[in-house]
Amino acid sequence: MNDAGKSDVLVVGAGVIGLSIARALHKCGAGMVTILERGSPGRESSHAAAGMLAPQAEAETPDDFFRFCRASNELYPAFCAALLEETGIDPEFDDSGTLYLAFDESDLHELGRRYEWQSAAGLRVEHLSAEDTHKLEPFVSPDSLGSLYFPEDRQVENRRLLSSLLSYCEINGIEVISGAEVVTVSGLKGIADGVVCSDGRRFSAGSVVLATGAWTSFIKGAEPLQGIPLIKPIRGQMLSFRAAKQLFRHVIYSPRGYIVPRRYGRILAGATTEDAGFENKVTEDGMTLVLDHALEISPSLESLPIQERWSGLRPYAEAGHPVIGPVGGMERLFVAAGHYRNGILLAPLTAELLSELIVNGEESMFVRQFSKGGTAKFKTV
Ligand code: GLY
Repeated sequence: MNDAGKSDVLVVGAGVIGLSIARALHKCGAGMVTILERGSPGRESSHAAAGMLAPQAEAETPDDFFRFCRASNELYPAFCAALLEETGIDPEFDDSGTLYLAFDESDLHELGRRYEWQSAAGLRVEHLSAEDTHKLEPFVSPDSLGSLYFPEDRQVENRRLLSSLLSYCEINGIEVISGAEVVTVSGLKGIADGVVCSDGRRFSAGSVVLATGAWTSFIKGAEPLQGIPLIKPIRGQMLSFRAAKQLFRHVIYSPRGYIVPRRYGRILAGATTEDAGFENKVTEDGMTLVLDHALEISPSLESLPIQERWSGLRPYAEAGHPVIGPVGGMERLFVAAGHYRNGILLAPLTAELLSELIVNGEESMFVRQFSKGGTAKFKTV
């Protein structure tokens, strides 16, 4: 085993969660932070995502998880503005709002149900007639029977967000080491002291954070993952169109799919939800489904060339809720994984909570709710 270096905090995983945590740790004065990535930074589900910041469009009920999503959404304007200032890379935060369309009786029932619980909870939501929906978005299908408008659901260009976070790391001396596949968390007397990679390299650290997405359950060592539910991959396939002019202004959902307008005529469409193990690839059936759901939202898309097809593996834990906090069975080992459909949305708040926990020992209400592990024991770094 060769010793490859020592850090105050090792963050395992360079997706949006790991990168955001590393940035927050650096801002909190956590000392030397190093990120280890099994592949290339920012190339897994964070890259595959659609960048929707849409708690109201995605949530079923006003539960703790919904409140967590809303709280992270509220951090987004400042998160993106700070990253632009720090790196010069604009994550293209867009707060135009989101539409949720109905096409039949059952969809209308779903809209009514969402409108009721969301307005009762004091959230901003508007019920639009078919006519008003078309005024807002003229290229939406004429078959649409109306929509809900969520003015506080937003979007960000997730690939630019990743570039901006990586640039922050580079500017601020946070080393991101690619091709470092962590297999084991090492520890002495129940206290994490580093990790070991599949090629035998050993990295030492005062604290270890697993931001390892769908790969979290592969990591072993002194039963460190005690209490953490199995995190498994759920594939999402997507495609994008290229339009010569801007056809849409809002993110537009139906109960079956969504389209996301981006700058320069790019329009994303998603997504499948498939239990296909680690087979990260597009399939003919998946593409047909995504295309059908996009064309239901807007038949105008049919005439546009398809620019890109891709897939990603969402990290799914119990109930689709993330696992954030200390890991039982090993002190100074932390996890932030299982963000499933909401990794981009939950990155700023996850980062804030984990950095406060690691640096100051402050365990927030959200960490108590979403932690499955043991009690937090800290080392001042
Ligand atoms: N958040 C959208 C998706 O996971 O498809």
